[in-house]
Amino acid sequence: MQTAVRKLRILFVAAEMAPLVKVGGLADVVAALPQALVARGHEVRVLLPAYRPLLTRGARRLTSLGDGRVSLAELRRPDLPCPVWLLETPAFMARDHPYSRPDGTAWADDAQAFGELGRVAAEIAAGKVLTDWNPDVVHCHDWHTGLAPVWMSLKATSAASVFTIHNLAFAGRFHPSILAELGLPESLNRPDMLEFHGDVAFIKGGLSCADELTTVSPRYAQEILTPEFGNGFEGLLRHRRERLTGILNGIDTRLWNPATDPLIEHVFDAADFSGKCLERRRLLQRWRVQESDKEALPVLASVGRLTPQKGVDLLLEALPELLHRRLRLVVLGSGEADLEQAVVAAARRWPDRFLAHSRFDESLAHSIYAGADMLAMPSRFEPCGLSQLYAMRYGTVPVTTAVGGLADTVFDADTVGLASGKATGFLMAEATVSDLIETVDRALQWHGDPRRWQALMRNAMGRDSSWAAAVRAYEKIYESALARRVDTLQAR
Ligand code: GLC
Repeated sequence: MQTAVRKLRILFVAAEMAPLVKVGGLADVVAALPQALVARGHEVRVLLPAYRPLLTRGARRLTSLGDGRVSLAELRRPDLPCPVWLLETPAFMARDHPYSRPDGTAWADDAQAFGELGRVAAEIAAGKVLTDWNPDVVHCHDWHTGLAPVWMSLKATSAASVFTIHNLAFAGRFHPSILAELGLPESLNRPDMLEFHGDVAFIKGGLSCADELTTVSPRYAQEILTPEFGNGFEGLLRHRRERLTGILNGIDTRLWNPATDPLIEHVFDAADFSGKCLERRRLLQRWRVQESDKEALPVLASVGRLTPQKGVDLLLEALPELLHRRLRLVVLGSGEADLEQAVVAAARRWPDRFLAHSRFDESLAHSIYAGADMLAMPSRFEPCGLSQLYAMRYGTVPVTTAVGGLADTVFDADTVGLASGKATGFLMAEATVSDLIETVDRALQWHGDPRRWQALMRNAMGRDSSWAAAVRAYEKIYESALARRVDTLQAR
């Protein structure tokens, strides 16, 4: 029996949202989850910093705050799932990238800028900013929004707070003097609140104060309770483990659909892979690589941020060895300067075997998922991972580490076997060069048998990566956060 779902007003708060501003997977989730919630009848708004390029046409001024330095503008566009509220502050508007200056270092005023984001979110929650809209739930994402639940609990707001961990490796650490500067009580500088190794960490605001905590896969929810993956927050998380739930991310299955994708030229589906073959050829042509079907080398792709988290360094280190195999690599992504340089150097050294594009390009990402045979994702840790989900949808088989969301979404062909119907890829036990090479070899062996390989591709394409299950799980979390909120307020 289906129980009726209460329709809620939900305010998302985040530093990224596709297609407006995207650095990583966070942006995709902050676009796709609101869309799924709106489809369920909820009323959603997203509060997002107005970084300069975002200050585009079409936004309508809603109100100004405080001394008039700060204002809120509303953007409504057909490609957005709901109205987006852009927070215009001098600090945000001076940025052309959310997190880093042109030289790659972090902006010096991060604490003030994101401190303001948290404060304004809490004011909206308290109904102080807009008279006609106040949320039941404020759903915060990652450290940038960690102060919102703090302000909400200080002000005893009736709206509930939910904090989602997309990546525990980024904590938002600053000198404790920031508390006074932001008008927060010094008493928050203690270990069970914001204090962290002599600093304050904004993420601890979310972890300590939110009514409910979630992270983006069940496996990562377990992993972060241990010192290996907890980044020093494992104690606090263990203490609050009853409020911590792992909910696997979905993907926007309309945007990522090989049968209809406008960003590829040759659409295809699991019944007929001829479009995929053509996409493969088109992909190689971007780098002017010609090959006949007979001498075709399998294409192993890597798409995503160039950071140690994603194990890009392992891939580069394994290259000389990997290129002894019959295979070509395609790498797309931007990130840390030394990794970007290493990628460019490798592309110069092996011009027709290692094809790289070191600036993120959404439409090229679609072509790569469509045209590649395998996806290499040797992550050291992975809260959820979206690349493997996109890849599977396009019949590109993941070769990846058995951690976090990767372990929850990819099932090793040699372990579960084809007969199980569940095999979707290849898992390496550890993020090491030798495990990577060994696992690529296993994948190549399977690839050599087209019948088995195609069965694997079909399994991968058949995985349900929609938001259907996740959105119901979030509805439960919102309800439980609201119930906890009522209890907390009554206990005061
Ligand atoms: C972060 C995580 C990634 C996750 C994404 C969206 O980018 O590193 O694993 O998929 O957030 O939740």
